[in-house]
Amino acid sequence: MSIGTSDDRSPDGDVFHPTPDLVARANVPVWEAEAGHARQDLTGYWAKRAQELEWYHPWDQVLDESNKPFYKWFVGGKVNIVHNCLDRYTKTWRRNKLALIWEGEAGDHRTFSYHALNREVCKFASVLKALGTVKGDRVTIYLPRIPELIIAMLACAKIGAIHSVVYGGFSVEALHGRIMDSHSKLAITADGGWLNGKIVRLKDMMDEALQRSPTVEHVIVVKRTAQEVTMEPERDLWYHDLMSLPIASPKCETEVMDAEDPLYILYTSGTTGKPKAVLHTHGGYMVGIYATLRDAFDLKEDDRWWCTADPGWVTGHSYLVYGPLLNGATSFFYEGAATYPYPNRWWQMIERYGINIFYTAPTAIRGLMRFGEAWPNRHDLTSLRLLGSVGEPINPEAWKWYHRVIGKGRAPIIDTWWQTETGMFLITPTPVVPLKPGSATRPYFGVTADILNEEGQSVADGEEGYLVITSPWPAMLRTIYGDADRYVKQYWSKYPGKYLTGDSAKRDKDGYYWVIGRVDDVIKVSGYRLGTAEIESALVSHPAVAEAAAIGLPHEVKGTAIHTFVILRTGHNPSDALKEELRAHVGHEVGPIAKPEEITFVDKLPKTRSGKIMRRVLKARAQGLSEGDITTLED
Ligand code: PRX
Repeated sequence: MSIGTSDDRSPDGDVFHPTPDLVARANVPVWEAEAGHARQDLTGYWAKRAQELEWYHPWDQVLDESNKPFYKWFVGGKVNIVHNCLDRYTKTWRRNKLALIWEGEAGDHRTFSYHALNREVCKFASVLKALGTVKGDRVTIYLPRIPELIIAMLACAKIGAIHSVVYGGFSVEALHGRIMDSHSKLAITADGGWLNGKIVRLKDMMDEALQRSPTVEHVIVVKRTAQEVTMEPERDLWYHDLMSLPIASPKCETEVMDAEDPLYILYTSGTTGKPKAVLHTHGGYMVGIYATLRDAFDLKEDDRWWCTADPGWVTGHSYLVYGPLLNGATSFFYEGAATYPYPNRWWQMIERYGINIFYTAPTAIRGLMRFGEAWPNRHDLTSLRLLGSVGEPINPEAWKWYHRVIGKGRAPIIDTWWQTETGMFLITPTPVVPLKPGSATRPYFGVTADILNEEGQSVADGEEGYLVITSPWPAMLRTIYGDADRYVKQYWSKYPGKYLTGDSAKRDKDGYYWVIGRVDDVIKVSGYRLGTAEIESALVSHPAVAEAAAIGLPHEVKGTAIHTFVILRTGHNPSDALKEELRAHVGHEVGPIAKPEEITFVDKLPKTRSGKIMRRVLKARAQGLSEGDITTLED
């Protein structure tokens, strides 16, 4: 069986139409009418969507464009996203509905009604306040996939603190860099988390990171795996101890926030240097993710929704934590690995919990395809109504397998294109539109996109160019935390007034978009976003390495894999042992996901006359393709 990721997506290939039954049951806007309304009256459209949620005080202005590209949404509006995720339900029947069903890797489970989740969030918010956390403070969260991660995020938002979640798979160095950049006073972690039957020792990593992070005054530690950890007196506090003290009051007022007040920062890799913090706000972000999840997935009152993403990435923030709660849905959340203890783990849980909508990444599908159909076929997957995909282009083989084997040929695949920066889906179908495998279809209501050539002109249908977004949208990032210049430079300067996505794409005659991939120095490895600069600086921080270059090359399961070229310092010789040491070193500096697939020792790297490494040339060489224009090559 082939699961290859070769880009054989074709606009003239198969078109999948939704079944009449699904169309009859769907409660989603009629595409043309809704898109037309939003096109004619962008602010009116978003005001209408915002009115579907509760505000403490209405906005004076929907969109303020007076200081572009620092757009503001719902100016003057008072709100708190947590009010719409939890508070407003406590007075309705929904207080008794399940908000969250969680399963641990070992098979343990916990459930939370909206009432119970709200109570935990209130208690933890009270604890945060008692420890001196106030509106605007940054809180670093480094937790495994356990309910306390969601509780901690919501508790921060409730009191107006800005959460900065660091993915549990990132290393000490990555954690340290993010704590320092955000000047967090408080950190929340766990003794460990379960993954593949092993303990990931998060507290130990936090301890190491904190040796050089003087801003952190307290660390709250959740007991998950119960192995020995060092608790530093005064600084470290157990979550369960705090939650059993009178300070953990279940009565805690939700902070009234300005619509434009920050909700969270999330670090993501860009073209140059270290990862930077993308900043999202309470008002516009809330409206954007509420509306997109509602429409793209036709989320219904009695649905059980499962987004497999880790909350440490934007998909988890928008569509695992906030989006489902804003829609009053029941979410499922799983701690561990997809193949633990066997490759049917996910399918088993879909059956056990009766999941209706399942949202995952192409890399996961390809990984599970390798184990064959017998594993999913052992399970009753008929509860599934819709499937989703995110993180990278989905290749037609994976699309069709997902559709046929998991969706039983009935469930449409909602391929959602978006980014950490966009906060919400920007290109996505709804369940009732015709689908073409590998295309995320068309820009969502109120979103206008274009594909431009180098000179900034729209390219003809079928031609490749830079994907840009040409009008603002409510969940857009507001800035890069602490680096407004970079915000302007990275996203708004190549084509002034237009948001540069960093992706290349084509549009077909039906107006469907086909995202090809990143055109900057960002690599998507198994859907995870990494920068070549991070991998290269990790390599050159090793004493044996003089220079390094990283590129992404196609990989069957990962989509893209990291290949690196290394020039050694004099006195060091190439060897397999050194390769292993360098891989481990990158793992330590960035995280296991960043370990290079391949390390090639070289004497020289192709560079421009100004000394910039020409990764494009390395990539072409590695793939046996034409090196293109090399007139700027050094020699
Ligand atoms: O290249 C695009 C790819 O993922 C990038 C954004 O990565 P990140 O900020 O980590 O967010 C991932 C989850 C939203 C994009 O620039 N990408 C994301 N979704 C798709 C995609 N490429 C093709 N199709 C998608 N559905």
